[in-house]
Amino acid sequence: MKVFKTVAEVRAARAAVGELGLAPTMGFLHAGHLSLVERARAENPTVAATIFVNPTQFGPNEDLARYPRNLPRDLALLEAAGCDLVFTPEPAEIYPSGFDTTVSVGGVTEGLEGAVRPGHFAGVATVVAKLFNIIQPTRAYFGQKDAQQSVVIRKMVRDLNMPVEVVIAPTVREPDGLALSSRNSYLTPDQRARAPALFRALSAAKTAFDAGERDAEALRAAMGRELAGFTIDYVSIADAETLRELDRIDGPALASLAACLGTTRLIDNLPLN
Ligand code: PAF
Repeated sequence: MKVFKTVAEVRAARAAVGELGLAPTMGFLHAGHLSLVERARAENPTVAATIFVNPTQFGPNEDLARYPRNLPRDLALLEAAGCDLVFTPEPAEIYPSGFDTTVSVGGVTEGLEGAVRPGHFAGVATVVAKLFNIIQPTRAYFGQKDAQQSVVIRKMVRDLNMPVEVVIAPTVREPDGLALSSRNSYLTPDQRARAPALFRALSAAKTAFDAGERDAEALRAAMGRELAGFTIDYVSIADAETLRELDRIDGPALASLAACLGTTRLIDNLPLN
């Protein structure tokens, strides 16, 4: 496995191979990230990953400074998962002095995370567009855990005719249902014990949906009942493609939520198909 810190080096390595699968990450890898690398490994002759804690997708009061990092461990995990190339640039390599361009995806960025985290998706879309331009993947792998991010990236790729196939892989969960996230490392033991309530809330909505409930407000209420003691940012039943809130479900939909335990903010979702 080769590790690169500069755009010029990774571009030269990429130019020497054919089809390539890319797993973009912010590091502090867990089994969810590794499932993306393993899927890329199964579907592409060459696999690349990026490790870059992207400053532009963090708000001024968010956790950029304390975001967990462990590059040596990440590199060992990527090597064991069969990754061939890793790009792990410093911020100045991605955002050199004078950098002044933003990719802004409309519509699907307005609600949910976009409403609570202004500027977040402009930061995500801009860095993902740059990573696609630098590495030129044939296929790029993202997790369903960040459902709105997946919708935003698919829309950016479609709207801007980017020649990359976006693959969304299922959320990987702990045995008690908690979705894997690098931010789970912030939870105290007591908070960790309470965190599976998020999955219980989503499962309550899914169970009601599977039993025939199509009233979106009834499903939001079912989720809310499981979240006593959490500070809820939103519970949502939205159209799976536009992410607009629904009154009634009559096509593919997404149950999603964001809630805080202490200072740790967790998100999760379940598709309702
Ligand atoms: O999902 C993430 O880890 C990040 O948002 C991404 C896609 C790597 C962009 O920084």
